Amino acid sequence: MERSEAAKVLTLCASDTLLVESDSGAPAPDGRGHLSAATDNASMMAHILGLYARPGMTIVDPMTGPGAFWRYVDTNIYDLHRSDLSRGGPDARCLPWLDESAHVVVLDPPYRYVETMSTKKGLVMLENDIYNLESGRTQASGLKGHDAVMALYRDVMTEGARVLKLGGYLIVKCQDTITDGKQQWVHVDLMAYASTIGCEVIDLAVVTPSQVPPTRWKVQRSLRKSHSYFLVLRKGGRWPFGYKSISKRSQLRVASASAAATVSCGRLL
Ligand SMILES: C[S@@+](CC[C@H](N)C(=O)[O-])C[C@H]1O[C@@H](n2cnc3c(N)ncnc32)[C@H](O)[C@@H]1O
Repeated sequence: MERSEAAKVLTLCASDTLLVESDSGAPAPDGRGHLSAATDNASMMAHILGLYARPGMTIVDPMTGPGAFWRYVDTNIYDLHRSDLSRGGPDARCLPWLDESAHVVVLDPPYRYVETMSTKKGLVMLENDIYNLESGRTQASGLKGHDAVMALYRDVMTEGARVLKLGGYLIVKCQDTITDGKQQWVHVDLMAYASTIGCEVIDLAVVTPSQVPPTRWKVQRSLRKSHSYFLVLRKGGRWPFGYKSISKRSQLRVASASAAATVSCGRLL
């Protein structure tokens, strides 16, 4: 075996077993399976983790807010780390985690940037609104509006990818918006960005709330988007993570098993 090939196989056989296992899929519950649409975030998180996560995985949710995502998840089976900047947690753009140390990173940044909103009481500042980037200390420096929202998404995704193990999952919540009359396809832009940080889009889920609050607009020029998305991204794609040719999958599984034996007695090095 060539030295570079051996190094590649060594990297593969060092892949985290929980992540390799999760690549083989999960049983479909109740004969229905894990669904790609739900009417609330908590149900969707339960579907996504039920399919892709495994007990024992290290999960980091650095923008956890009130924690609605975790309502239907058995948090005891994971090594779960939740924090939020507004409650003294680290900035999700610069996490105190080592490179390649987590199996799953969950990101739910504020998805809109509105300085004021007109209500029955007149114009009010949108402080203390967890969905608004104006709240607290969360502004991306020097930017405003949609640019600030997207800059924060890109920064936290880049940081999340750094912290993820190869084969780990980045779960990103987002919503398309209309800014200055222009439709912003946020989920499409973030999918494109994922490939620049070594992540592959492996799934997409939609949350469609059963009730939509009334709009104050009298005239409408685009369909009103009440739905939002969960992007499921994977660092290095599916197993063998980061290896380009999927035609070599079975060959690599055999090779990595035999390499594991060789490595344990040190002969490959
Ligand atoms: C949309 S909310 C998250 C809601 C949460 N997923 C839930 O289930 O309740 C966004 C949260 O991100 C936090 N946040 C904003 N910027 C942050 C940053 N740079 N680092 C860490 N947290 C941040 C906000 O304080 C807010 O609580």
